[in-house]
Amino acid sequence: MMRKPLMIANWKMNKTRDDALAFIYAVNDSLPSSEFVDTVICAPTIILRDLVKRQGDTLKIGAQNVFYEENGAYTGEISPVMLTSTGVEYVIVGHSERRSIFHETDEDVNKKVLACLKHGLKPILCIGETLEERENDKTLEVLESQITKDLKGVSPEMMENVIIAYEPIWAIGTGKTATAKMANEACSFVRELVKKLYNAAVSEETRILYGGSMKPANAKELLNEPDIDGGLVGGASLDPESFLELVKDCTL
Ligand code: PGA
Repeated sequence: MMRKPLMIANWKMNKTRDDALAFIYAVNDSLPSSEFVDTVICAPTIILRDLVKRQGDTLKIGAQNVFYEENGAYTGEISPVMLTSTGVEYVIVGHSERRSIFHETDEDVNKKVLACLKHGLKPILCIGETLEERENDKTLEVLESQITKDLKGVSPEMMENVIIAYEPIWAIGTGKTATAKMANEACSFVRELVKKLYNAAVSEETRILYGGSMKPANAKELLNEPDIDGGLVGGASLDPESFLELVKDCTL
């Protein structure tokens, strides 16, 4: 079974509408066909609609966050229904910045994953350990706990639309990348876990990405690993040339 590679840009809180449109115009004609790689840009909510209008066969647009309720008195939040109405397909859920700065718990993340799936959105579930946890040999324990809690109630059929991103927190935005071997070890552990929780077919089909200071200089090595199916990229996705290179690296 060959999993199709997936390269996702996580722009975080960067780019105005004009910056974002200029980026899309710069990359749109040069992206490899979706026959070989899926390309997604997760952009700030306020410009999603403008970008969705320019998405095509080779480029899909995603959001960076979603709330789990459909509507109601939740000032400032965006519901899954609102996201679907813009035409986005993907949403990042449980990014470590949301967990640490905005205090999202595994319970919140689980509700978000379920809400996305209910409304036809593909959650990109982020998991990963802190530096302290890695140094204390707690990485696998943390990953197991996050996966088990965050995927609670997700059926094997629903897993078809779930993407998992392993992002060691100490590697995010720090310039420190996990070695390819380290990253693959974690991704392969997650794949085994998915097999235990579901079955071999689901585990073989689930796309597991690496994120954390991935850039053109280190991407090929990471993407070459058997259990790494693509990347979730912050800093290096902000420049069109660098992002294009990363997408192309997925097809090598
Ligand atoms: P980075 O961010 O590539 O800038 O380390 C990755 C992420 O946070 O998704």
